[in-house]
Amino acid sequence: MAIERTLAIIKPDAVGRGLTGEILSRIHAAKFHIIAIKTRRLTKKEAEGFYAVHRERPFFQELTEFMSTSKAVVIVLESENAIAKWRDTMGATDPAKAASGTIRKELGASIQHNCTHGSDAAETAAFEIGYFFSGSELI
Ligand code: CMP
Repeated sequence: MAIERTLAIIKPDAVGRGLTGEILSRIHAAKFHIIAIKTRRLTKKEAEGFYAVHRERPFFQELTEFMSTSKAVVIVLESENAIAKWRDTMGATDPAKAASGTIRKELGASIQHNCTHGSDAAETAAFEIGYFFSGSELI
């Protein structure tokens, strides 16, 4: 298995509910290395650029408004098979469909307020990491 990096976001709903520490604990328990981490309040334009792949979806406006309402925590995670491993740790996008023990099942409130984001493939991870972090922050 290859060592990979993925972008994780603790979304504004989770930050606002005081769940940042709980989610970071789960990241440590799953044995990811945190390569870089910062808090950011995204502008609407930044949220639109980040989620550009979803621009034709009916939830795009609502999603980008929600993601720019207040601070998020953006994190670069590294481990073996990090992309799939972080997606497994989060659980399915819709908390109602997520497996037990996952972040979204235990902490998520709805498909919109689902606490966390994770890259879905290697190319997406490269784009998403570069969206928030410069090379010197990733050494
Ligand atoms: P995320 O993994 O950040 O990727 C896109 C986000 O769109 C997703 O999590 C959800 O929070 C959000 N979203 C809102 N409505 C839907 C929907 N109907 N289907 C999929 N994603 C949705």
